[in-house]
Amino acid sequence: MANVVTLEKVGNTGLIAFDNPPVNAASHALRQAFQDCLDRAAADPDIDVIALYGKGRSFVAGADIREFGKTPQDPILPPIINRMEEIATPVIAILHGVALGGGLEIALGAQARVGVGRVRVGLPEVTLGILPGAGGTQRAPRLTGVTAAIEMITTGRHIHGSEALEMGLLDRLTDGEPRDVALEMAEEVRAGTLPVRTVGQIAVTVDAQQIAAAKAAVQAQSPQLYSPLKCVEAIAACDRPILEGMDIERALFRECLDSPQRAGLIHAFFAERAVAKIPERDATARSVASVGIIGGGTMGSGIATACLMAGLRVRLNERDADALARGRQTILSNLDGAVKRGKMKADGRTNAEHRLAASTVLRDFDDVDLVIEAAFEDMGVKIDLFTQLDAICKPGAVLATNTSYLDIDRIAAATARPQDVIGLHFFSPAHIMKLLEVVVADKTAPEVVATGFALATKLKKVAVRAGVCDGFIGNRILTHYRKAADYLVLDGASPDQIDDALEEFGWAMGPFRANDLSGLDIGYATRKRRAPDRPAAERYSEVPDRIAEAGWLGRKTGMGYYDHSQKPAPANPGVAAIIDTVRADHGITPRALPDVEIVDRYMTAMIVEASRVIEEGIAQRPIDIDATFLFGYGFPRWRGGPMHYADTIGAATLVARIATYTRDDPHYWQVPPLLQRMADDGTTFADLNAEA
Ligand code: CAA
Repeated sequence: MANVVTLEKVGNTGLIAFDNPPVNAASHALRQAFQDCLDRAAADPDIDVIALYGKGRSFVAGADIREFGKTPQDPILPPIINRMEEIATPVIAILHGVALGGGLEIALGAQARVGVGRVRVGLPEVTLGILPGAGGTQRAPRLTGVTAAIEMITTGRHIHGSEALEMGLLDRLTDGEPRDVALEMAEEVRAGTLPVRTVGQIAVTVDAQQIAAAKAAVQAQSPQLYSPLKCVEAIAACDRPILEGMDIERALFRECLDSPQRAGLIHAFFAERAVAKIPERDATARSVASVGIIGGGTMGSGIATACLMAGLRVRLNERDADALARGRQTILSNLDGAVKRGKMKADGRTNAEHRLAASTVLRDFDDVDLVIEAAFEDMGVKIDLFTQLDAICKPGAVLATNTSYLDIDRIAAATARPQDVIGLHFFSPAHIMKLLEVVVADKTAPEVVATGFALATKLKKVAVRAGVCDGFIGNRILTHYRKAADYLVLDGASPDQIDDALEEFGWAMGPFRANDLSGLDIGYATRKRRAPDRPAAERYSEVPDRIAEAGWLGRKTGMGYYDHSQKPAPANPGVAAIIDTVRADHGITPRALPDVEIVDRYMTAMIVEASRVIEEGIAQRPIDIDATFLFGYGFPRWRGGPMHYADTIGAATLVARIATYTRDDPHYWQVPPLLQRMADDGTTFADLNAEA
């Protein structure tokens, strides 16, 4: 095995270098080698200063996250750090790139910390459902005070060098190569110009009232999360002797480690990264500096805003001057909003405005690198536009459609360059939502797929590769499980009971509240369009149609499933009357549906359609579906995603559930072959991820 930690003697300095690419994660091998190097350096009579630094792009990015959930292997980090703190030879840490989690905890066990360049430090464990378990909750407050430590540990945010210096986490901020800085700082320790002290011996006071207030605050902010509260409990022990406090921290760390939320959050961490592993990842992306956007509605303006915020030049196209002016105005107010939210500086906004051009003439798209069509959702309109784009755009321009449902193979066939045509499906509001579905049509060239992924990175979005079908990954699955919510209403639940039950499960918003937000006319139009193809055996609820026909279109008309003239919006009483009538028409006697049954049916419906999407190859792997719902649909991150959640239930249980539901509705509730196979052979969606 390569030397993941090395000890180099330069004069009287013992340089300990971490070298475990890509991010120097503190894996078992690194811990073992680090302990060995420390022991050797401490025992060497010639070494009077030990300096730690990282090779490659960072100091240490924390524990190796892949090891969580497995039996911890000795040596674990806390005793190594405690031992380091006791070594008679002063130890200093030189931090560049990132020093996160266990990486910062190693540095806190040193007697001085020097930041280099654009270093970022932090204790982000809470974002993984755990807490800093190698002394972070005990040593950070000794340097920063309890208030700052609570804030940094319960948010897990990354802190830039200058702020870390102000907070006391760093003793110095400088520039240079980490190894050179290490040698320079060792000299300063000898000269007494870089003071050293043992952090574990610094006294700190804890105020019980402050701890109680912090606990109340984290519970109010994230009532469903387990680890933020545990972080505060651990920090509360920091006025004890260091080893005693660390025992408490360790016990709380283990509790978090055993929590299903830890597994869900770590799965979500890897999902965000796994989606980039696409068959086209070795293809060279085409360069994109200018984007033409067709359509200045909510979606087109949102996409334009996202592109402008990423530094791209944007040309907006609309049919007439009025629509163009409205689109431009929406973009400018989106940019103002971004400045207000701290996502953009005022001068950045001015520059973005200068990069925005608007035109009603499609011919002006002759020089753009990429076109995103976000026009009306109608095949005739799209085919007409793509025929024109084919004649206008320069060779090699990527021609993308933002369609949510339509067949991109047909759109591509309208051009003589189907290899350049792709789906780039954004989610509203497009300058805020992180998901981008990159829909690969039959003839899309690999470098065009790579360009879609590169654009997503530029826009700071998570791209998921999807195949062509009605609704691709996300909307196809949504269309299916959304019906389950309508059936639950027919059978006896109220829309607000369903919303509340699903929000309690963790969804950011229940389906009826979400519909009120996006507008009930959208679903109404889609259902009308699809009516001719609806199978005769399909159960159909007329409730949503009747609500739309009453002119209740959600927030935009003040009334939908809810009455938005009041805050918080109560249920619209008129909807209950419609539901009663429709139930009577169907001859249904409503029954009481417990919340657990609501969640089970809704989630099972979701897993069923997701299984089909995997089996048909529309999604590459189950983890791509997890990422789709985490970043585009408000699925609770701590549950890891719908397929990870499915694994916590197990395929056999899901199949048994479907067998009971099928008695009410054999058309809707059918066991997908993939799920049946998994139930038979005891495999999981995680197994499928590992195979892919
Ligand atoms: N363990 C294992 N693998 C890790 C890792 C970690 N701590 N951090 C990153 N990686 C992996 C990623 O999965 C990715 O792998 P693939 O290339 O196979 O997908 C690779 O390293 C590069 O990571 P990114 O793509 O994220 O690279 P980036 O430059 O965009 O970001 C980073 C780098 C800021 C370090 C980011 O990866 C990150 O935030 N990592 C997690 C940091 C963290 O949470 N640390 C705390 C760990 S828990 C802990 O330390 C507990 C404790 O108390 C001891």
